[in-house]
Amino acid sequence: MMKLINIAIDGPAGAGKSTVAKKVASALSYLYIDTGAMYRAITWKALQEKADLNNGEQLGQLLESTKIRLVPDEKGTEVFVDDEEVSAAIRQNEVTRNVSIVAAHEKVREQMVEAQRELASRKGAVLDGRDIGTAVLPDAEVKVFLTASVEERAKRRYEEEIQKGMDSKLDAVIEEIRRRDQLDSTRLISPLTKAEDAEEIDTTQLSIEKVVQQICRLVEERVRAT
Ligand code: DC
Repeated sequence: MMKLINIAIDGPAGAGKSTVAKKVASALSYLYIDTGAMYRAITWKALQEKADLNNGEQLGQLLESTKIRLVPDEKGTEVFVDDEEVSAAIRQNEVTRNVSIVAAHEKVREQMVEAQRELASRKGAVLDGRDIGTAVLPDAEVKVFLTASVEERAKRRYEEEIQKGMDSKLDAVIEEIRRRDQLDSTRLISPLTKAEDAEEIDTTQLSIEKVVQQICRLVEERVRAT
């Protein structure tokens, strides 16, 4: 049997991380872990509870008493918060607008990182996020940093939202992506940065299939070398 490794896929919003990560996981029969969904899940709950999103202490306590579950299905991942299915709810604008604020708190990140390490502990996992290669799994055998121009990322997000039947406006998506890039890359704890040993792939001009192939090749090389 092929040796199992962990694969970290980081990058800004809309770079194609989740689509690519899902396909890589499926090609290798690996577990796909959508860490952004975990931050979205606690943000959804905080909004429901009308918690103060700027209070890290309070959000940390809320997270301690919240059960977040990721259940792989054929489309990707079903997300449950305290046994309520929230897969669609966590993609709504209100959550997207607030998630970077919630994700910036140390008390939130500590617990998330611990849970993510636990999920990946048996190896054979593909994690996508912002800090996987730098903070969650600094020893991941394969690290990829996906980028694309802001315009291309916004276009992809917009088309995805329209397909889901959401009432989306391209200009608003561009603005939102710029704002999240700024918040995610300038926060104090584990900001979005490329790990030194990550392979950077600019996906602006690449098809999803090409990116998936490139990552699968990196995995093969790495497995062969160990
Ligand atoms: O990938 P996404 O758009 O679903 O992520 C939602 C937000 O969660 C993103 O704006 C930043 C945050 N996030 C994070 O801080 N660390 C991660 N590992 C994953 C996501």
